[in-house]
Amino acid sequence: MNILVTAGPTREAIDPVRFIANRSSGKMGYFTAAAAAARGHKVRLVSGPVCLPAPDGVTMTQVVSADDMLRAVRTHLSWCDVLIMAAAVADWRPADVASAKIKKTGRSMMLELVPTPDILRDIAPYKQQRLFVGFAAETSTVVAYAAAKLAAKNLDYIVANDVSQPDAGFEVDTNRAVLLGADGSREEWQLMSKRDMAERLLDVIETATPQTGGRGNC
Ligand code: C5P
Repeated sequence: MNILVTAGPTREAIDPVRFIANRSSGKMGYFTAAAAAARGHKVRLVSGPVCLPAPDGVTMTQVVSADDMLRAVRTHLSWCDVLIMAAAVADWRPADVASAKIKKTGRSMMLELVPTPDILRDIAPYKQQRLFVGFAAETSTVVAYAAAKLAAKNLDYIVANDVSQPDAGFEVDTNRAVLLGADGSREEWQLMSKRDMAERLLDVIETATPQTGGRGNC
């Protein structure tokens, strides 16, 4: 299969030296891309800024912002059979990016934030026979929020993480999650390495039948 994976955070510039980002290390997406390539799939990885080496056998596209990631996903979408959106895309960006470093004044300042594009919602009309997998990082009401996103974002599966736990979610090498399927399926994944979770996810993907989505071409 042709598998497109996104990973890592995005960075939203405030000025030439400052940005808004999040705690995503990119590990879950990188392990997934590496495991898929090791199984013989063709893999393209769209990555935000992380400190990880490119996995063997994977074609990389490096991006910075949510806008960049959207462009990259749209570019590669028609190539893929499966999209795994493991990236922690920033939800907001500064309304204006200062062209020069904003000087410190010692006073408080207001920063106006505007929403970034929601990549999965943007590409939902072009899903066709592709399998779409999302991730939901939550700190409360994890499964209910994930179930709502599964439907709202037209996904086949969503991996729901409770990132308030020290041994799961951001930065660490282990994870625990609930996998929800649009077909009503539900799997509880107890604490395991992100490498093992990537393999579990690929086991599901390799036997899944995608729900037919929008019919347009990107
Ligand atoms: O809405 P939320 O950010 O929790 O949804 C998580 C899922 O949506 C992830 O798969 C993430 O990659 C994707 N996402 C996206 N575009 C955004 C934010 C999140 O595609 N702007």
